[in-house]
Amino acid sequence: MVNTKVKLCGIEIDNPVIPASGTFGFGYEFAEIYDINKLGTFSFKGTTKDPRFGNPTPRIAETPMGMLNSVGLQNPGVDKVIAEELPKLAKVFNKPVMANVSGFSIDDYAYTCERIDKEAQVGWIEVNISCPNVHGGGMSFGTDAKNAAAVTKAVKAVTTKPIIIKLTPNVTDIAEIARAVESEGADGVSLINTLSGMRISLAKKKPILKNVTGGLSGPCVFPVALRCVWQVYNAVKIPIVGMGGVSSAEDVIEMMLAGATAVEVGAANLIDPYACKKIIDDFAQVMEKYHINSLEEIIGGAH
Ligand code: SIN
Repeated sequence: MVNTKVKLCGIEIDNPVIPASGTFGFGYEFAEIYDINKLGTFSFKGTTKDPRFGNPTPRIAETPMGMLNSVGLQNPGVDKVIAEELPKLAKVFNKPVMANVSGFSIDDYAYTCERIDKEAQVGWIEVNISCPNVHGGGMSFGTDAKNAAAVTKAVKAVTTKPIIIKLTPNVTDIAEIARAVESEGADGVSLINTLSGMRISLAKKKPILKNVTGGLSGPCVFPVALRCVWQVYNAVKIPIVGMGGVSSAEDVIEMMLAGATAVEVGAANLIDPYACKKIIDDFAQVMEKYHINSLEEIIGGAH
């Protein structure tokens, strides 16, 4: 019998598989097709202080082995998330959930995190300082070590739950940003958010995305994500949630060998809503094949 349990920032989860924010709604939508209590946890739709309609369409473009999105943090706002979405989730999910929070100023981040922190079902808060699709917020905090540290400090001052800072790969040195947030008390980091990219329509001779650029995700980014997890594991002591192009139990194990304690699955959920369930179901067979008894024991094992 293999052991898939891991401890993420002091909270034990049944397995390290976490559907990534923006690919799993508020969870209850997926509970209609399978029991989502099978998951380690999941990261819910990125939430901001105010409701957001998101960017104009088209905001999705295909590319070989991946996709570009420029959604622009569409969400109902923190009031509605607390009043309507979390009560619906509580009816179908009996585990701690990961809240995902975005902002356009340090005060925004602090306000939303403080509100979400009070929700009983929230186990961790993933603070997204890496959205490439908005102006005047998101990634502008994650590409500068001082700004990343300042958001972390402000959020830590008003919260009690573990804070996981979500990092962007669109930087020269992701390890520097990880060290900066660790120094201000981050309990963990998650990485990578999407890579900034674009496509041009040959028929229209114009960018496909209305926003011109978007975030690249899917299997094509997996080697980049793995390299970032490897580098950050060498730089910090706090746990890493790895993500980027993960679509199989083998990918999860590879990410853990690079240094991830848990692993988020994103674009794969958009191709197959059962993707995370299948990964979890495959663990026993894949772990046996590679002579792994316990997932916790392999974290960072390739170093
Ligand atoms: C988006 O809503 O634009 C995507 C979120 C993100 O990449 O952080």
